[in-house]
Amino acid sequence: MDLLVVGAGLYGLTVAEQAAQSGLDVVVIDRRDHLGGNAYSSVDEATGIEVHRYGSHIFHTSNERVWQYVRRFTAFTDYRHRVFSTHAGTVYPLPINLGTLNQFFHAAMGPAAAQALIAEQAAQAGVDAESAANLEDKAVALIGRPLYEAFIRGYTHKQWQTDPRELPASVIARLPVRYTYDNRYFSDTYEGLPAHGYGPWLEAMASHPRIDVRLGVDFFDPTQPFSKDRVRGQAPIVYTGPVDRYFDHSAGPLAWRTLDLETQTLPVRDFQGTSVMNYPDLDVPYTRIHEFRHFHPEREDRHAQDRTVIAREFSRPAGPDDEPYYPVSTPADRERLRQYRELAEDEPGVHFGGRLGSYLYLDMHMAIASALQFWGQGAVTAGTGLRSAR
Ligand code: FDA
Repeated sequence: MDLLVVGAGLYGLTVAEQAAQSGLDVVVIDRRDHLGGNAYSSVDEATGIEVHRYGSHIFHTSNERVWQYVRRFTAFTDYRHRVFSTHAGTVYPLPINLGTLNQFFHAAMGPAAAQALIAEQAAQAGVDAESAANLEDKAVALIGRPLYEAFIRGYTHKQWQTDPRELPASVIARLPVRYTYDNRYFSDTYEGLPAHGYGPWLEAMASHPRIDVRLGVDFFDPTQPFSKDRVRGQAPIVYTGPVDRYFDHSAGPLAWRTLDLETQTLPVRDFQGTSVMNYPDLDVPYTRIHEFRHFHPEREDRHAQDRTVIAREFSRPAGPDDEPYYPVSTPADRERLRQYRELAEDEPGVHFGGRLGSYLYLDMHMAIASALQFWGQGAVTAGTGLRSAR
């Protein structure tokens, strides 16, 4: 073995694939029983519907290099993501656009009138977005109180399980309002879903004969041959698990939010007519409902016509045994992260990457770009005995 990759998510798989291409023998371990980390999906046998097991994953990028790279392993459909929001018994298109505004204000405004209205409502808030003391003040300063109350307040409250007045203003950088009817959720150049599913894409990435994948293997289990105890200092390691866990939480735990996805098969062909519906109101306990058949309209002939699969999404702080999904990143977390980064600098032959290893929210294309960039630095070379994988 020339390199151990801990974690078979998109970061780990990209590094493994690149390393194998350059002639290294790579072992990839993951404590889960499948490839792909959070991007994993599988086809529900009863309905033929591909279910994203860790929440909806849509591939999108404007990075030409990443787009060329991923298409070596899979073709993509021309799916374009659109999200809707059910507020007070009415469905609105998101992100907030001219359609949302005209529906919400019962108006027929053009772009200039809508812009003037939002500017007026934001000014009425009497708060400056730059100096806002909390998330609520900042949101109101950006889009005015009515839209904030309808689409942001309850959703944010449910996401963070915290009143937005107690959340730092920095949680939102901006709240884009589109003064057109464009309701494409992502504005990247390229977008789509892997044509044959995430499974075949991820398997293709791991299919190089120099890659040996071991699933159901925990790096911190001292009884298995690729454990931290046995490999550290013996071979270069790319570690994509939680950085605080690697150092036994010595500087304290980094806070994450997790999601509970309640997946259900319903006895109807089509439950909501779209893939993702948000629920921003506080009297609904979940934040959104995913309906997976809508990700692949081109597969309707293979989908059950009398049933559909949905998942209700609930958000809460992650406990020690939960899957970490989104970094919370309080000032205390950032101080801990600084300490872990220092420890990581001094850790011989170990590179920390991916969303868990760097304590950053990364979209799939960002995880891949970051792995390609790391590998492009040429830190690990076959047969050199080089110990530093950083
Ligand atoms: P990832 O978490 O995928 O992989 C890390 C792997 O390390 C995991 O498989 C884990 O089991 C393993 N591991 C951890 N500790 C270990 C240990 N001790 N021993 C062995 N293995 C260990 N992106 C996007 O582009 N479009 C989208 O629509 C979405 N949607 C989305 C929804 C939700 C709910 C989330 C949480 C995330 C997204 N994403 C997304 C982001 C996407 O999931 C993310 O970019 C990739 O998962 C990042 O890949 P990584 O390899 O960094 O981490």
